[in-house]
Amino acid sequence: MIRRINHIAIVVPDVEEALSFYQDSLGLELSHVEPNEEQGVIVAFLPAGKSEVELVEPVESDTGVARFLSKRGPGLHHICFEVDDIQTTLDRLAARGVELINREPIIGTGGKKAAFIHPHSTHGVLIELYEVTPEEPARRRERVLKWRRRLSTQRRVAIAGVRAFLRALRQSRAETVATPRKP
Ligand code: CO
Repeated sequence: MIRRINHIAIVVPDVEEALSFYQDSLGLELSHVEPNEEQGVIVAFLPAGKSEVELVEPVESDTGVARFLSKRGPGLHHICFEVDDIQTTLDRLAARGVELINREPIIGTGGKKAAFIHPHSTHGVLIELYEVTPEEPARRRERVLKWRRRLSTQRRVAIAGVRAFLRALRQSRAETVATPRKP
């Protein structure tokens, strides 16, 4: 059973710039920003009711998201539906001949399960399925708190400091890249 739209992911070349529309003009609230090292992206989370808009900026050039951005430009990347039982959902879709990118769910940190359905089968939109584990809400709160703390120590202001934080993050990345490696 589909519970709700968990999030809508929009890929952008610059999260800070995108916030000037999604936060300032549209009026969504920014809950937090965090880098996802695994996927080589920075993600900004903007709740909209029971769902979220996630702005995704690739910071590594050899990732799927970066390739998507350079090929198609900024825009909708995927829609994520939260389901009760992801394995049952995948089995049912497979039985109907739906093209799945992940036939088995990917187990993420904290045991969360996710899988993608190929746009070939969905009329052009990448769809993510997501099964939330019981620990997920608590883990998420913890992560937000951790990031707020980190933001506030770095910039003294939690949300207001996000932009400066992002700039600092990019700056430090640029310096890391620029530092010549020892032979
Ligand atoms: Co997603």
